[in-house]
Order: sequence, then structure tokens, then C-alpha cells
Amino acid sequence: MKVLFATSEIAPWVKTGGLGDVAGALPAALRALGVDVRVLVPAYPELLQAFPDAEEIARPHWLGGLLPTPAVREALAPDGTPLLLLDYPPYFNRPGNPYLGPEGRDWLDNHLRFGLLSRVAAWIGSEASTLAWQPDIVHCHDWQTGLAAAYLHYLPGAQAKSLFTLHNLAFQGLFDHASLFELGLPDAAWSMEGVEFYGYLSFLKAGLQHADAISTVSPSYAREIQTDAEGMGMAGLLRHRAKHLSGILNGIDTKAWNPATDRHLYRTYSARRLEHKAANKAELQVELGLEQRRDLPLLAVVSRLTEQKGLDLLLEVAPQVLKLPAQLVVLGSGSHAMEQAWAALARKHDGQCAVTIGFDEALAHRIEAAADIFVMPSRFEPCGLNQMYSLRYGTVPVVRATGGLADTVTDAADEKHGNGFVFGPATSTALLKALQRAAAAWHDPRRWRLLQKHGMARDSSWAEAARHYVDLYETL
Ligand code: ADP
Ligand code: GLC
Repeated sequence: MKVLFATSEIAPWVKTGGLGDVAGALPAALRALGVDVRVLVPAYPELLQAFPDAEEIARPHWLGGLLPTPAVREALAPDGTPLLLLDYPPYFNRPGNPYLGPEGRDWLDNHLRFGLLSRVAAWIGSEASTLAWQPDIVHCHDWQTGLAAAYLHYLPGAQAKSLFTLHNLAFQGLFDHASLFELGLPDAAWSMEGVEFYGYLSFLKAGLQHADAISTVSPSYAREIQTDAEGMGMAGLLRHRAKHLSGILNGIDTKAWNPATDRHLYRTYSARRLEHKAANKAELQVELGLEQRRDLPLLAVVSRLTEQKGLDLLLEVAPQVLKLPAQLVVLGSGSHAMEQAWAALARKHDGQCAVTIGFDEALAHRIEAAADIFVMPSRFEPCGLNQMYSLRYGTVPVVRATGGLADTVTDAADEKHGNGFVFGPATSTALLKALQRAAAAWHDPRRWRLLQKHGMARDSSWAEAARHYVDLYETL
């Protein structure tokens, strides 16, 4: 079975969130099951630097609309996964991140940049392709590659089936009507049964509408998005496609996230050497200018700072949380207002609360290892990876019962399986109560140890998810 995995980010080179982690680890897990997966990803500066010798293996000569003709270069990732780098420097060889310029605003030509990525994915899956390798399935992810399913649907010569994996319904890739022509889509696509969404062209809807199958990243999220309350305008369409929609829980990269071998840590540890975790807390307190206190629980957040993540709820009760008493570390970036609010809190509670604004992979690892409690009060969470990193690092998660958080964290009330603390309503009061429960449990070492052990024993590897994807590929 041959699968083209089309993605707009891939760890460890280019990552803004969980999609990057998934694209960096799932392909190898699929390859281990015998699937011939190759990953199509834009040749961002980081990838050109990592693979300077990537050779050109194809160049489509015409893609329609105003789309340029890029080169496709081939490279081999260290884990053995072949990468197809979509090389068109005017689009992808830029500073900033894949979606935003250095000033934090969306690139104005994102419809063309990700339209091109989608179009080339469809080209590789069609008889027009000049590549020797022909995929049976084009597996696309989120709005950035959603249009691939539409191209495979509307253009003649499609050979591959399509699977669209939804990582987040909040990002819909909406562009104006004129982009239909620029992207080389036929007029017929401009309809309710096509890519049109309330007067806009939606890349996300294109994927949901036209993919042969749809998956999302947890069973709970697959159910939630079919309700009007959580479907973000797509619930009707998702209900309509329910027979072709499934939820497959993400795994994590258990090599990159292993406390026993993690090179970013001050001191490695394991479930049997759990006492060594404490050194990470002591060192991080020094690194971030917190008081060196062993007698206080250290709470942590590593997150995008957006509405989705519900961190405004934590901000509201932060003074009470610090009075538990507890310490708090936050690493995040996102909305300017949230960044400012967190920075202000840290200034006010110097020594007890440390806030780092930015994206820092190594620090994220050190925080996971150092913290006692990890906080994720998300309003919605398709899967969430940090709670799984936390479980593996013996850092007890406090989460809201939504999406993948509900599917991975079991409340401490269940003495046999409990590995964290779960609360229901998206309110600061409910969050505070859960944090109070967690802090009380932390002061009872035997109870805490049990929660940690349950979490660390959980199998979060990609093997199980990969088997589900293979089953799904087979149905196609
Ligand atoms: P989402 O994709 O919605 O942001 P996930 O929990 O699936 O949420 O994945 C987020 C990933 O991004 C995790 O690997 C997390 O550690 C990482 N991450 C988020 N913010 C930062 C940051 N400021 N610095 C370093 N890593 C971060
Ligand atoms: C999205 C979601 C997150 C999920 C990730 C990877 O960014 O917000 O919950 O874990 O994709 O699937």
C-alpha cells in the first residue's frame, strides 16, 4: 500500500503545534507496519538547510489557475521516511512560521501557498504525475491540504483515494471567491455541495466534503463536532458524512519524549527511578528565577495562547492558585493580549510565577520533567499531546473533560486507574476546584506516586493508532 502524506508542518524541523508532531512520527509508525508512506511538505528554509542535497525528481509543467510550477525534491528523513519537498522559493523560502510573517500576521498569499501544496498532492495522486512512485491514497491534514481532496474530485485523471484528517475545526482556511479561479478550480466547485461556505472558499470544507474518508484525532472529538454546539458551522456536513467519519486517538513520539533518555533534561529518570525527577524541578526553579522550594507543588503550562486552550480561566484564578500555595511556570505564545496578561502576572508574583513568551522545544521538555502538575483547561481539544507527554513524565495532568483530554486522562476518583484530575464546566471555579484537589493529593506522597505510576504505565506509542489508520486505508 502506498500513501502520500501531505502536511504543512513536520517535526523536528518545522512545527507550530501538534500537527507537526503527528507528521514527524506517524509516517514511521505506518512504515513499520509495511505501508510505503512518503511525506509531501513545503521546502521551508529549515528543510532546505537540513537537506541541502535533496535532488529534483519531478516538476509539473502546468497546474492551472495562477499556480506556479514548483520542483519536487526528494530527501530521506533520519527515521527512514522519504520526504518530498515542494520547492518554490517565492512561496516557502521565507522567514516567520509556515502561516505567519515575522510581524505575526497571516501571509497574504496563503491560499496560493497551501493551494499549491494541495494541488501538487493531487497531481502526485493522478495520472498526470511524472513520478515513478504512484500513491494509492493521498492522506491530507487540516485546511492547508484540504483542497487536495477537491482537486482529486474535480480534475480528470485522479487515481488515488483521499483521506482527510481533521486536527482542528477552528482553522477553516477561508478565502474570497476570486481565489477559486486563481487556484484553478472549476466554477462547478462553487456550490453548497462543493467548496463554498457562506460566500467564502473554505479549504477545510473542501476536505470534509470531498475526501473519500474523514478521520479526526480522538473518538470524543469525532462525536463532539457533530453537535451544533461544537461543530463550528460544519456540524450538518459532518453528520451528513458520519458514515465516513472516524476518530483515531493520536500517539506520541516515545523516542523524543522519553524521560529515561531525554537529552534536554537536567536529570533523566524512569518510573523506577522517579526520585530523580526532583532534580529537574530544583534546576528549573534556578533557571527560571523561582524560589527553590521543594515543599510547594509546581504547576505548569506549555501551550499556544489562544481562546481554545482556556488559559484565561487559569489567569482568572491564578492569584488563588498561587496562594494554595503553589508555583506556576508558563511557556507559550499566541495572542498579544494573553502574552501581556501572563507577563504582567509574572512581574507581580516574582519568584513564584515564571512566564516565558516564545516557542522553545528544549524548555518544553525541561518543564514537562520538572513540573508536578500540568494544566490544560481547554475549551475544546481535538486530541492534545501535552497531557500524554505529562503522563509519560510522571507529571499529573489537570484537564477539562473534552475531546482527546477526556479520552486519555482518568480522574483520581477512580483509584484503580486514575492518572489525573478531570473537571467539566469551562469555568474558572471548576478549574480551581480541580487544582485544589490536585494540590491536596500532591501533599499525600503515596497517593501521588500511584497517580504518577498509572500515568507512566500508559502506552501512548503510535503503534495502536497506526494499526487503525492501516484498517482505514484498507477500506479505501
Ligand atoms: P495544538 O496542536 O492545539 O497546539 P497539541 O497539544 O496537540 O496542541 O500540541 C502542541 C505541541 O506544541 C506540543 O508538542 C507542545 O509541547 C508544543 N508547544 C506548544 N506551545 C509551545 C511553546 N511555546 N514552546 C514549545 N513547544 C510548544
Ligand atoms: C491540533 C489540535 C490538538 C491535536 C493536534 C494534533 O492542533 O488542537 O488537540 O493534538 O492538532 O492532532
